[in-house]
Amino acid sequence: MKKFSFFLFQVLALPVILASGILGAQALTLQEELGKAIFFNKDLSFNGNQACADCHGAEAGWTGPDANFNAYGGVYEGSIAGRFGNRKPPASAYMTQSPILHLDKKGNFVGGNFWDGRATGERLGSPAAEQAQGPFLNPLEQALSTPADVVNKICTSMDSDLFRIVCGDNACDEANVSAAYDCVGYSVAAFEASPEVNQFSSKYDAVKAGKAQFSKEEQKGLALFMGKGKCNKCHVVTPRGKKALFTDFTYDNLGVPKNPENPFYSQIDYNPAGTNWIDLGLGGFLAAQGAHSEWVSLAVINMGKHKVPTLRNVDKWDPSLGPKVKAYSHNGYFKSLKSIVHFYNTRDVLPVCPELYTEEEALAANCWPEPEVAQNLNMADIGDLGLSNAEEDALVSFLETLSDGYVPQKHQSCSAR
Ligand code: HEC
Ligand code: HEC
Repeated sequence: MKKFSFFLFQVLALPVILASGILGAQALTLQEELGKAIFFNKDLSFNGNQACADCHGAEAGWTGPDANFNAYGGVYEGSIAGRFGNRKPPASAYMTQSPILHLDKKGNFVGGNFWDGRATGERLGSPAAEQAQGPFLNPLEQALSTPADVVNKICTSMDSDLFRIVCGDNACDEANVSAAYDCVGYSVAAFEASPEVNQFSSKYDAVKAGKAQFSKEEQKGLALFMGKGKCNKCHVVTPRGKKALFTDFTYDNLGVPKNPENPFYSQIDYNPAGTNWIDLGLGGFLAAQGAHSEWVSLAVINMGKHKVPTLRNVDKWDPSLGPKVKAYSHNGYFKSLKSIVHFYNTRDVLPVCPELYTEEEALAANCWPEPEVAQNLNMADIGDLGLSNAEEDALVSFLETLSDGYVPQKHQSCSAR
């Protein structure tokens, strides 16, 4: 069944991929076009006011584009006012290559989508396709009630011809909802895998292609990324024969503190634990027997672990969005690249704050609050890197080269010398 639907997906995708080759590299396939139209369609929500793009804005590197949300809780309000989710939106780009969630030879979990891997990809043969079916029906996000609702809204609010061409003549028939909803997932995933989303057009890519040069500071940052900073251990730069995604799709507990400003703590209807709620990450998903019963026993050693996110576009923020505030890590605790790099550098060096401070308070008091989950902390690669302040800055400069949309300057070498 699983193989069959993935096969169907490929059969559908192939002719359009060929067609797009003729139309030019940037043209989207019909399936990608459909996925794009769905991704940006606000009608596909309870109040007709929220699309995927509202929490995954291209201008913000396909993550949260709202400076106000980012500045505090880091989580986003759903279609129904006052309902907030519990985690920061990760980028919806550069994640379609995440494999189906599995255990590797060393016993580590790899793959899946979401911070906790719960879109495993087993059902549809694609984590991204499974992920894309979630938000429409999440009461804290787009808040529709059934797949039939979503399909019905697609058939009435947008170009249903395109939907039928890609998903089949009977895509809008009531009897066919389940297959049509799978096709919605595959189409959104196809858009997320497209060159419009994964542009590989950063300064980093231009340097790799010999079309630009790093500044001395950026070069130093890259060396630290690969060496003393150990970032490359998880945010992998050198995958065999492929373009760097800056993630290996594994899971780790960095010891990120709770974000006291997360509005989820007061969402008692959805979060009976209130302020005592703890985000257990991958371990929480495994414990709930979300994937395989034989993985439940592995929950304990995966408590507090979250998926290694891509670092592409971590700094990206279009000026049209207003003054830049982004949020970093699964709960948006960190508000700048400098502060998260400082955390990697000094987690185990600075004293523990006397109570749960916000990032701003912690930076002012020169301490870090205790980790949200104390078990399974990564002690080997993180916490006491011995970086100087200037080295932290250089790492940030390197991270800033990962934003797509870089335009190489033609006479760079003349003006630089
Ligand atoms: C209200 C805000 C919101 C909306 C709307 C929303 N998302 Fe998300 N998205 C999130 C949050 C928060 C997460 C992380 C949730 C988690 O890990 O539990 C997430 C996770 C993801 C991921 C996982 C990325 C990864 O690396 O694992 C993808 C892909 C994604 N969303 C795509 C979409 C698509 C497609 C839609 C529309 C169908 C959508 N999102 C709608 C907030 C939102
Ligand atoms: C042991 C694996 C590991 C190492 C080493 C590592 N990271 Fe991470 N990184 C992660 C994980 C896992 C997360 C998400 C953790 C969370 O949210 O709880 C993350 C999150 C981040 C984020 C936030 C991205 C976002 O979208 O929210 C940035 C930025 C980052 N890392 C940069 C770095 C830099 C720079 C280094 C080197 C100094 C580094 N990382 C070293 C695993 C690692």
